[in-house]
Amino acid sequence: MKVPQFQPWVGQEEYAAIRECFDLNWITEGPQSTKFAQELLELIGAKYGVFAPNGTLALYLGLRALSIGPGDEVLVPDFTFMGSASAVEMTGATPVFIDVNQENFQVDLDSAAKAITKKTKAIMPVHIYGTMAEMERVQQFAKKYQLLIIEDAAQAIGVRRYGRHAGTFGAVGCFSFFADKTITTAEGGFVVTNSKRLYTRLLFLRNQGRINRGSFIHPQVGYNFRMTDLQTAVGRVQLKKLPQIIERKHQILALYKKHLKNIPEITFFRPPQGSDWIPFRVGISYPYATELMDYLRQKEIETRTYFYPLHRQPAFAYLKKHRTYHDKDFPGAVAGYNYGICLPTFPLLSTEQIKHICRSIKEFIKIKRQPFYHYYDTIYGQKDYQSETEQTLALAHELLHRKPTKVLEVGCGTGSHTLQLAKHIPHLVSIDIDPSMVKIAQKKIKNQNNVSLLYSSVEKLAADQFDLVLALFNVVTYIPTMTKLISFFASIASRLTPGGVFLFDCWNGIAAIADPPRNRNISLVSNGKKIDCKQTATTNLISQHTRLAYDLVVTSESKKEPEEHGYLSFNQTLWTPMQIRSALKSAGLSVVRDCTWKNLTIPASSSDRQIIFCCLKKP
Ligand SMILES: Cc1ncc(COP(=O)(O)O)c(C=O)c1O
Repeated sequence: MKVPQFQPWVGQEEYAAIRECFDLNWITEGPQSTKFAQELLELIGAKYGVFAPNGTLALYLGLRALSIGPGDEVLVPDFTFMGSASAVEMTGATPVFIDVNQENFQVDLDSAAKAITKKTKAIMPVHIYGTMAEMERVQQFAKKYQLLIIEDAAQAIGVRRYGRHAGTFGAVGCFSFFADKTITTAEGGFVVTNSKRLYTRLLFLRNQGRINRGSFIHPQVGYNFRMTDLQTAVGRVQLKKLPQIIERKHQILALYKKHLKNIPEITFFRPPQGSDWIPFRVGISYPYATELMDYLRQKEIETRTYFYPLHRQPAFAYLKKHRTYHDKDFPGAVAGYNYGICLPTFPLLSTEQIKHICRSIKEFIKIKRQPFYHYYDTIYGQKDYQSETEQTLALAHELLHRKPTKVLEVGCGTGSHTLQLAKHIPHLVSIDIDPSMVKIAQKKIKNQNNVSLLYSSVEKLAADQFDLVLALFNVVTYIPTMTKLISFFASIASRLTPGGVFLFDCWNGIAAIADPPRNRNISLVSNGKKIDCKQTATTNLISQHTRLAYDLVVTSESKKEPEEHGYLSFNQTLWTPMQIRSALKSAGLSVVRDCTWKNLTIPASSSDRQIIFCCLKKP
């Protein structure tokens, strides 16, 4: 199934509007343009507006109206379309690049503060990907450094921040109606301002240095920046379609989110608080973006990278004579370019096409996870599973006052505990919600009649009762919310015989706050292969979340070059002991002991990282 990156949504209605211009025999800028300008100003809530032939020239016109020119510097985000900076260059001023944040690629004011010189005259926040920069902060910044603000709102028609439309915060705001923009006139631009003085300047500049046409006397030097009624008539139809376009774009975003949910490897573009988001493109970040895009290309799905950082643009190499630009000063823009992918997002995109895209992304992510599973035991096999299992069973024995006979193991992983448990338990059911793990475990535990290894969650498991349920490997940290934690415990309670025991371990969130999960590297050689596994932990202590990412490189000892690259990541919740206790109580389980592997008889303290909870279902 072919999926283009973009298709404009124009058809018979736009065609009829153009034909009407021919019928009226008015094709240059005329009545349609006047009406379109009025309608746009109504939508945007600005006092004045003039057209330009495209977004780049709208920016140029705006800059010129602000008297920006040779000798001036304008702060431009490093992460934007070339046109933002080339408009500055066209005035004779110098674009000075500043970084953007990594969540939504809006202008980073700390980076901007470092770039200020005596020559800095203006800042150009670019409202990227259909959402908006935090304009109140940009305004404060501009006031502090006495800068003019020119908003690049090329991608932000219809987008508001706390109800105020993009383009109305600065001295001027500039829009583009290029074919891929939210509404289009094929090519086109619009500059808005609330200043009568600037409006007059804009009129002179765009209309050959005079206010009205029909005179050959030109008080100033100006240029021809007109549009045609053929274009603005199309724009008027598009504007009528805007509510539908916005609705469909939101549907598209919701579909992408639905079909790509629970994939910790993928991060969606996150709009700033207070800003609308009319997805210009649905943007995702993935560490192996280039490989994923190649894979999608083979499936005839056309994606785009995020913007190439302006400080790296060959066209701007000349700027390095006066300033030094290094990647390390632009972590936001560089990460955006390295990891960002624009997924197709246009009103004509069908639900089937979106499903096809998401299916293909999931296929690739699965392929990329495979090496991790393949080498999992090699990397983590050193743990003493035998002694851990024996300790667990001794604890269960003590609490049950007898040997457990029917055991459910939740989260079998690659089956290392399972293999040990199978030696002692007459009837063992082991489950995992990760099918790849279950496959590895099944290979390990072949021909054991007392063990059933299943790809299942507790909830989906066929009704059965157990006298012991075990959930080792930090299973509860994979549960994202309190509601889900309670329902997980409740379904375990429903599987336990009265008086049955539930034993599980968890990472203690309180201890993690003092000593959060860390980055670490594991390097080893096995069967002539060098295996390097880099674990990266990104922890947000406020939301008690950790994202663990595993980057695996396998190098053949003989070839000395990487032959496999694996990548996978997990989201984990760092539950506090209090939260665990409260969820257990809600699920009808009582904690009879908590301890750590170091000492199973002494109660765990809040500084213990790995706590083992022992729970009982009422007899
Ligand atoms: C952020 C941004 N600025 C400026 C422009 C330039 O607009 P145009 O292509 O209409 O010249 C674009 C268009 O792609 C853009 O995305």
